[in-house]
Amino acid sequence: MFIQVLGSAAGGGFPQWNCNCPNCDGLRRGSIQARARTQSSICVSANGTDWLLVNASPDVLQQIRATPELQPARTIRDSGIAAVLLMDAQIDHVTGLLMLRERQTPLPLLATEEVLSDISAGFPITQILSHYCGVQPIVLALDGAPLHIPGLDGVVVHPIGLSSKPPPYSPFRNCPRPGDNMGLVIDNPQTGQSVFYAPGLGEVTPALLAVMARSSVVLVDGTFWTEDEMQRLGLSQKSAAAMGHLPQSGPGGMVAQLDTLPAGVRKILIHINNTNPILREDSAERAELAAHGIEVAFDGMEIVF
Ligand code: MLT
Ligand code: MN
Ligand code: ZN
Repeated sequence: MFIQVLGSAAGGGFPQWNCNCPNCDGLRRGSIQARARTQSSICVSANGTDWLLVNASPDVLQQIRATPELQPARTIRDSGIAAVLLMDAQIDHVTGLLMLRERQTPLPLLATEEVLSDISAGFPITQILSHYCGVQPIVLALDGAPLHIPGLDGVVVHPIGLSSKPPPYSPFRNCPRPGDNMGLVIDNPQTGQSVFYAPGLGEVTPALLAVMARSSVVLVDGTFWTEDEMQRLGLSQKSAAAMGHLPQSGPGGMVAQLDTLPAGVRKILIHINNTNPILREDSAERAELAAHGIEVAFDGMEIVF
């Protein structure tokens, strides 16, 4: 099984268009050791030709151009993207659907009932797309049962409900439901290995930790280093928790959670906000991650399992 990281940054990307935080400003000036990143998305394939796009980021066209595997060029109009699966209804995960409108058949779109309802009402993407290619919605149940993706032989996933937050435009922003955000276990039935993917994760429950402990690779929320990162920089009033993200540092933080996993589990952070000091390759925070055996995803990273 193949996973390609198409976009490893959180909403806004890195550098963010209007941001002059030390990271964004430093990257533009070339005065820090860091690389640019596009907004949150991965793709998954069993055969290297037919791909499941997981999240459709606003940067999807740039990501497709940077990933030749996504254009197999079998016919005059073609794409390796056979279906799209959404982890939540956040702007950074769904807006790219509009960029896929030139398809000639409805786009198979896998998401929970909650996510499908947010993107048909508050941000009515599926309604807009009905005037172009249209979507073929496939409702995901969060019962942990294995799901075979139509048209994608060999790709088996298990959607899992998570504690995080629906987008600010959702009527449920302040009363999240289990289906607003999900994690995904991606299986390789051939090798018995699996990857757990959760770019937005507000809380690691014991049940979730057990799922992570059974995985070969965990690819999880790396949005913020500290709970008050945005507030301290004067960029937002909101804490990490208020935005549905568990920060890495501190007691009970993501580093502490990942420390409890068995030694063989590969640990990678993804969906990294542009303010996060771990983006600087020579920062103390990045060295601390390395000391805990934790990697930082980058655009173009490949995971084979
Ligand atoms: C989030 O996950 O909180 C988002 O990146 C926010 C956004 O896209 O604006
Ligand atoms: Mn996001
Ligand atoms: Zn910034």
